[in-house]
Amino acid sequence: MNYVFKSREDPLLISKIKTLEEVMWINDHKMKFKDILSTLPISYEDVIDAEARLQRFAPYIRKEFPEVKDGIIESPVHEINKMKKRLECDYSRKIKGTLLLKRDDLLPIVGSVKARGGIYEVLKHAEKLAIENIMLSIDDDYSVLSEERYKKFFSNFTVQVGSTGNLGLSIGIISAKIGFKVVVHMSKDAKRWKKELLRSKGVKIVEYDGDFSVAIEEGRKRSKEDPNSYFVDDENSKDLFLGYAVGGIRIKQQLSKLNIIVDEDHPLYVYLPCGVGGSPGGITFGLKLIYGDNVRCFFAEPTHSPAMLLALITGLFDKVSVNDFGLDNKTEADGLAVGRASSLATRTMNNVVDGIFTVEDKRLYTFLKTSVDEENIYLEPSAFAGFLGPIYFSEIDNISHICWATGGSLVPTYERKRDYEKALSLLKIK
Ligand SMILES: Cc1ncc(COP(=O)(O)O)c(C=O)c1O
Repeated sequence: MNYVFKSREDPLLISKIKTLEEVMWINDHKMKFKDILSTLPISYEDVIDAEARLQRFAPYIRKEFPEVKDGIIESPVHEINKMKKRLECDYSRKIKGTLLLKRDDLLPIVGSVKARGGIYEVLKHAEKLAIENIMLSIDDDYSVLSEERYKKFFSNFTVQVGSTGNLGLSIGIISAKIGFKVVVHMSKDAKRWKKELLRSKGVKIVEYDGDFSVAIEEGRKRSKEDPNSYFVDDENSKDLFLGYAVGGIRIKQQLSKLNIIVDEDHPLYVYLPCGVGGSPGGITFGLKLIYGDNVRCFFAEPTHSPAMLLALITGLFDKVSVNDFGLDNKTEADGLAVGRASSLATRTMNNVVDGIFTVEDKRLYTFLKTSVDEENIYLEPSAFAGFLGPIYFSEIDNISHICWATGGSLVPTYERKRDYEKALSLLKIK
């Protein structure tokens, strides 16, 4: 198995990152969560307020998206025993704990983790505008928002976002439903089906030759030029972060129902794919609010795009990019193809995240094939980044592992087929 680095000072760590080798780094600046919480820019009360807002919007969601029966956008969590057995066999080791999969690939409406933050932020913006214009009060039944007069009102405003794909889908779909005009700024290499799906919803796409950072920078600039435009900022947004954090606190009830105990003697290990860091950061924050240090959260990044890892080990946060280390930020894991991590996520996670590991693209496809073969579960390649986590911690007794599946249900059949075939060809299986 790959070497585990326990100090950011170890010179071998940077040299392995530069040569695209997989690494695992245990955060040597981690503090007790209760000691750091009061210094963070987000509080427990902020997360509870976000959950209450999502509850207020439930009647609206139910009306506009009847497939969301209770109006609450949530996903299941369950064991993946067949996958576990195959991993044990492939890696020649026993995984002692329970292995669970959190199915954010099944989140309604958008089919990815980015639904959590994206939908929350757009709903909050719509609520604010409607309340300021005396069209809504927080005691109203929010299903009124689907009436034509509201859509007409919201059509005076634009929502813009820079995205590698899934955040764009999330912002685009919910904003268009509410009635906002929407512009999504995307890098050219974002997946074509994501752009086509957005265009079919009436969303304007602006494409850029550079990577995600260029798209977000340009989007931010263009949005500033229009006083009626609101920019969803994946690198700095507290609201996005809160939407993800709600997902973290909701896990408690789900795990209790499965009789999974989380305490000092039964820690929970969670593995989260990381791009800019907003979704894994927010979820980690929510999880630590409910389980404190009994939950250990690890972020997983592609070897070509270890933006969060470099941000934390150098202490330079968003002031450093993977390009500064000669890396090309080219990966099939499009949601994780981020060269520079979020300012908010890096600062919030610096003393909170338990560790970060990197994964080669080829390994993502191996996991994809195993998951399809053993569990009949397809996820997009990005969503497999965390699956190496249970291997690193296979020896520990009395723990539960959660691999956070971050996207996949909207991926068209031809793309799924292409991914599976790519796995076969990488593994040289005919
Ligand atoms: C499928 C998938 N997983 C994980 C992530 C990572 O989220 P973040 O960029 O907030 O770290 C993304 C981001 O778009 C994604 O699309």
